[in-house]
Amino acid sequence: MRRILVIGASGQIGCELTAALRIKFGNDTVIAADLKSSPGNPKSSGPFLPLDVLDKETLSVQVRRQQVGTIYCLAAMLSASGEQHPHKAWQLNMQGLLNTLEVAREESVEKIFWPSSIAVFGPDAPKMNCPQETKLSPTTVYGISKSAGEDWCKYYHDRFGMDIRSLRYPGLISYQSMPGGGTTDYAVAIFYAALKMRFYQCYLKADTHLPMMYMDDAVRATLELMDAPGDKISVHTSYNISAMDFTPREITVEIAQHIKGFESFYNADFRQAIADSWPGSVDDSAARKDWGWKPKFGLSETVEAMLEQLKHLARPNSAIY
Ligand code: NAD
Ligand code: SER
Repeated sequence: MRRILVIGASGQIGCELTAALRIKFGNDTVIAADLKSSPGNPKSSGPFLPLDVLDKETLSVQVRRQQVGTIYCLAAMLSASGEQHPHKAWQLNMQGLLNTLEVAREESVEKIFWPSSIAVFGPDAPKMNCPQETKLSPTTVYGISKSAGEDWCKYYHDRFGMDIRSLRYPGLISYQSMPGGGTTDYAVAIFYAALKMRFYQCYLKADTHLPMMYMDDAVRATLELMDAPGDKISVHTSYNISAMDFTPREITVEIAQHIKGFESFYNADFRQAIADSWPGSVDDSAARKDWGWKPKFGLSETVEAMLEQLKHLARPNSAIY
C-alpha cells in the first residue's frame, strides 16, 4: 500500500485525524507532516516529517521518496488570524493547496483530501439550513481562499481526472489540542473557562447562531468520505456537512446543567462580524444521500463528552454533576 501524508498534522484536526488513520492503516503507513511537532501530535506512534507546504520542491521529493498515494492537506490559517494577516493567509491557504494539487498530479497521487469551511458562505447565503448550492460571497480572506480552493479542486478533478474530496467543516469542538485562530474557537475555550473559573468572557454575542461539530464526528466523516466509492461522489467542490448548531447562550445553559453556577458574559470583538457573515446552520442532504453521512453528537452529547475528557481541570471543590 502506498503511504498517507497528513500535512498540518500537528493542528486541531491533524493530530486526531492522524491518530485515526494510524489505527486504520497502521502506524508506519501514515506520515505526519507539519512545520513543527506539537504535544498533541502522535509523533511517537509513527513517522513525523518537518515540512513546509509552501516549499513545493521538498514536498515533491518527499511524496516520491515516501511513496505517498494519499494526501490530506490541512495546513491553513483560520478566519480570525486570517483577518489579522490577510496576505499571509492567502499565501498559505492558496499556495499550500496549489502545491499539493500540482505535486499530486505530477507524482500520480491517487487521492487527496482538502477541507473547506462554512466560511465559504457570506451574507447573501440563506442564514438557516444553508443549501449545498447557493451564492458564495465570502467576506473574509479565509472564506475567499476556501471558495477559490473549492474551485481549484473541481478544476483539477475535471481537467486531470484527479480524485479530490472535501468537506465544508463547521466549527470543530475537541479536547486533544487547542484550536488556533478561528472564530468558532469560543466553543472549545468555554469548557476550559467553565471548569477552571466557572465563568466565561465570550467574544461573540449571546445569540450568535453557528454550525458546530464534535471532533469524533468530523474525523469519522472524513474517513467515510474518503472510503466512499468514486461513483457516489457528486460534489467536486466541497460537501456541506452538519451535526448541530447553537448560540453561546445555549451552550452556556447546557454546560451549566453540569457545572453549578456557570455563566457567560458577552463582549463582542472583531470576530462578531465574521460570525455574522456565516450561516447559522447548513443543509447537508447531499452528503447524507451520496455517502450516507449521519452525525452522532448533538449539543448535549458533545458537552458531556468534553466535560468528561477535561474534568481533571476542574477546581477541587467545583460541583460537576
Ligand atoms: P490548526 O491551525 O489547528 O492547524 C493547522 C496546522 O497547519 C498547524 O499545526 C500548523 O503548524 C500547520 N501549518 C501552518 N503552516 C504550515 C506550512 N506552511 N506547512 C506545513 N504545515 C503548516 O487548524 P485546524 O483547525 O486543524 O484546521 C485544519 C484544516 O481544517 C484547515 O484547512 C482549516 O481551514 C480547516 N477547517 C477547520 C475548522 C475548525 O473548526 N478547526 C473548521 C473548518 C475548516
Ligand atoms: N472554525 C473555523 C473558523 O472559525 C471555520 O472554518 O475559522
